[in-house]
Amino acid sequence: MELCVALDLPSVEENLALAKSLKGHNIWLKVGFRTYIRDGKDFIVALKEVNPEFKIFLDLKLYDIPNTMADAAEEIAKLGVDMFNIHASAGAVAMKTVMQRLSDYEKRPLVLAVTALTSFDEENFQKIYEKSIDDKAEQFAKMSYDYGLDGVVCSAFESRAIKNATSENFLTLCPGIRPFGEDAGDQQRVATLQRANQEGVDYPVVGRPIYKDSNPKAKVDEILKVISTF
Ligand code: C5P
Repeated sequence: MELCVALDLPSVEENLALAKSLKGHNIWLKVGFRTYIRDGKDFIVALKEVNPEFKIFLDLKLYDIPNTMADAAEEIAKLGVDMFNIHASAGAVAMKTVMQRLSDYEKRPLVLAVTALTSFDEENFQKIYEKSIDDKAEQFAKMSYDYGLDGVVCSAFESRAIKNATSENFLTLCPGIRPFGEDAGDQQRVATLQRANQEGVDYPVVGRPIYKDSNPKAKVDEILKVISTF
């Protein structure tokens, strides 16, 4: 299990200060829409300057026609980030095209597929996908596995079923983690680190429980200590 810290603070200065406070740690940093749109490529470079060993997950959830997605995937590979994601619902051809294009890169980023956005409730999900969230997430995960992606973004509670349906090595990255049962905030279904470990989660994503803590560095120390016991 490898910790992924969400850099969701409202300014580049605050995100960089958080990264600097965590520079001694072997962790992943998640850069999302808001941060990337505002701070762009320079921010990725700045993070690598803080610690070249930081692993970066660019959470842009690509969804477009296959060729456009593959073009974007190549640009992401050139940025030197370590992981990015696409929407599984972009389909099999998109997955295949993205993976084919990245196969030319000696060291390509890991590619994950978003199965079901956790903001969906069952009713609204079914209006679009005509299946239950669990069934569709598993179907999307199998398709992602068949087309050579490295893993999926899912809830901790879907991780085990997805691994059973694909492979133990098929990666699961799971937001909604409250390491020691902290406040859930707007997350609906949250899992502790212990539970995430039981469900086979590879990358627990943690935002607020770290950056809202009065001592984010100590919090990360505490989390890494627990992870090292798994
Ligand atoms: O603060 P918290 O730990 O809830 O942050 C979770 C992070 O994971 C946020 O950046 C959020 O946007 C992201 N995320 C999520 N649920 C998803 C996909 C991404 O919470 N399905």
